[in-house]
Amino acid sequence: MTAISPINVFTPAQEVKDIERFAGRDDELAALATALQSHGAQIVMYGQRGVGKSSLARQLAKLAVNDAELIARLKQKPFETLDFVPIYIACDDSIRNIEMLMLRLLSDEDALASWVPFKVVEKKTSGEIGAKFSVKVIELGGKKTDAITERAQEIETDIASIFTTACKGIVKTGVAKHGLLIIIDEFDRIKDRSGLASLLKALGPEGVTFALVGVATTIQDLVTEHESVARQLADGSVHIKPMRDDELQDIFDRAESLLEHKFIFNPEARTWIINIARGHPFYIHLVGKHALLKAIATGTNTITLEMAKEVLFEIALKGSAPIQESTYKTAIGHSYTREVILKRFAERIEDEIHTTELYAGISKELGIEPSTVSVYVGHLGSDKYGAVLNKTRERYYQFSDSMFKAYAAARPYELKASDQEDA
Ligand SMILES: Nc1ncnc2c1ncn2[C@@H]1O[C@H](COP(=O)(O)OP(=O)(O)O)[C@@H](O)[C@H]1O
Ligand SMILES: [Mg+2]
Repeated sequence: MTAISPINVFTPAQEVKDIERFAGRDDELAALATALQSHGAQIVMYGQRGVGKSSLARQLAKLAVNDAELIARLKQKPFETLDFVPIYIACDDSIRNIEMLMLRLLSDEDALASWVPFKVVEKKTSGEIGAKFSVKVIELGGKKTDAITERAQEIETDIASIFTTACKGIVKTGVAKHGLLIIIDEFDRIKDRSGLASLLKALGPEGVTFALVGVATTIQDLVTEHESVARQLADGSVHIKPMRDDELQDIFDRAESLLEHKFIFNPEARTWIINIARGHPFYIHLVGKHALLKAIATGTNTITLEMAKEVLFEIALKGSAPIQESTYKTAIGHSYTREVILKRFAERIEDEIHTTELYAGISKELGIEPSTVSVYVGHLGSDKYGAVLNKTRERYYQFSDSMFKAYAAARPYELKASDQEDA
């Protein structure tokens, strides 16, 4: 194990790539290994924000090339040596539809660009919105070098057929027995996902496996196409759930061993951080990182419960979790009452929260009528206040984002009872 700067032992801003830092997830890895061995199965990995999808997607790429360290973690070894060419891309908002996704895959060096003997560029069609998307294919003469002579043969065709041809070409070279594995992370960021089904249908039988990864509560949510597509994908789908406490402990174990045990989190500190994380590894990294920095700054090598609490307070103050921070402020506005209610909801362990008893408790605590409580809860479900709660059925609410729920529960109060209320 190589020595590593303590600053980068915890990486709240980045997914885990190294296997030695990757904790738990034995069940998910097993499911992914099975999916890779299932002929014709396409892979879908879906779950909440910050739960560890991208980290698992990175491990999927390693499984696909039979990475020894990762294979060693599987209880059931694959029946054959996994041999794919894996590529990984993360979508951004500029990829607005499936055609643009194919274009990105063909033109990105980290994706397929280095594999295809031509260059594809979007053909700018001046004119009306909604004009047919078309691309220019520039054939590259011979070997790809910097001094390439572009035989600018402008072949104008539709991107789907170029993409299909390119993928088939790569599979045909026989570089990998199981063909191509195209991992598309943050797939949910593509606004218009129509056309996905036909792509899967055209390429599935040609030795191309897709792994779609994104924020969603169901497969249907992620693929958005006709529900028959979701059904076809069910075989290789893996729901990435929040991590178990023992898996979160494993993150600390691995961090401590990266630190060569020069720093440790004592059991109370670990338990408390795990408790506020509610299955989200992001919080272990966020609090872990700041607690470790504090330990270094104060010249101690044991992170205590007290330090962990202090650190969380500072995180909220310094805005180290800006997305959750701003959602929190939107939700509470200037109302202490709404803040208390938000916190009481966030403190519930269960996903679906039953309101009857909760309202009675809050009503007693704040000295207001239960019907008034329900008005404030209505606020928390409305767009004006960030729509952080969803009504799932009569008398039941759920947080729209479970990571925000964890944040709201753990974060110190913003307002005081004496603050002015808004209406
Ligand atoms: N299995 C794991 N072991 C250790 N850390 C993890 C693991 N999974 C996720 N993390 C950490 O949790 C945070 C969120 O993970 P990420 O994979 O980016 O989640 P998502 O893609 O679902 O938003 C990151 O800081 C990442 O380093
Ligand atoms: Mg991600």
